[in-house]
Amino acid sequence: KAKAGLKDFLHISDFDKHTIMKILDRAKEVKELIKSGERTYLPCKGKTMAMIFAKPSMRTRVSFETGFYLLGGHALYLGPNDIQMGKREETRDVARVLSRYNDIIMARVFAHQDILDLAKYATVPVINGLTDYNHPCQIMADALTMIEHIGRLEGTKVVYVGDGNNIVHSWLMLASVIPFHFVCACPRGFEPDARTTKRAIRAGVSKIEITNDPKEAVKGADVVYTDVWASMGQKEEAEYRRKVFQGFQVDEELMELAGPKAYLMHCLPAERGVEVTDGVIEAPNSIVFPQAENRMHAQNAIMLHALGL
Ligand code: CP
Ligand code: NVA
Repeated sequence: KAKAGLKDFLHISDFDKHTIMKILDRAKEVKELIKSGERTYLPCKGKTMAMIFAKPSMRTRVSFETGFYLLGGHALYLGPNDIQMGKREETRDVARVLSRYNDIIMARVFAHQDILDLAKYATVPVINGLTDYNHPCQIMADALTMIEHIGRLEGTKVVYVGDGNNIVHSWLMLASVIPFHFVCACPRGFEPDARTTKRAIRAGVSKIEITNDPKEAVKGADVVYTDVWASMGQKEEAEYRRKVFQGFQVDEELMELAGPKAYLMHCLPAERGVEVTDGVIEAPNSIVFPQAENRMHAQNAIMLHALGL
């Protein structure tokens, strides 16, 4: 089923470098407009967006809802108990019904297959607001933040320390489109998905390394990045993971090893004292809050692209 002029946003690697850079440029442009107080740019006037959340959220919910409103549209929050996608109703029915009321659908789900099914059956664009597998909007915001703080994304060294999770998969997909040096340092057995890693390496765009040695990995990093050790849906493993992940905390010593130019990034929410210390989050080279703000600006550009605006 073709969506003429409309595009899903499910994986960064569904797009070429030109398109990703175009979206990031647009994000900068619209960010400036919004931050200038300009309120007459309302390209989404009269449009509505359904936001499906099977998991909790602060950033994703608030940034999408506020962002779409600032572009002139109206967003509806559908929480875990509202739709109960796949339980109360089949995903393919949800997709087709919501498409009749709304111009765009954003969804945060557990199984990645759910977002693929939504996109398959919806007749409006579907945006991935995180699945167990990936989190493309987050990494677009991260890319925008790096461009703002470092001046570029290409040729930088990004070292992710921690669990080889959905965040890492989106970093790998970005690295298969835009050339930079990506290193994931994780405990043995917590590496990112092997097929996703292989595909990113085979793309031949970026230098990609998966290692179990965070101290060696961070040397010369432009960005040291981390995320929770137990993602949503894995919270019952949290205690076990705290033991296995000893030595992978991003602390003052690791940031020291990274060197003076390294910024700290974290998609948030952070568990201070677990994957990251309070001190490094509060340090002057931490850019976690500009990074969080950029969720909204990156997503505004993603929504405009999805809607062909
Ligand atoms: N980073 C992120 O997606 O945050 P939320 O889970 O609060 O949306
Ligand atoms: N890896 C985390 C990211 C939260 C934004 C999770 O999936 O819970």
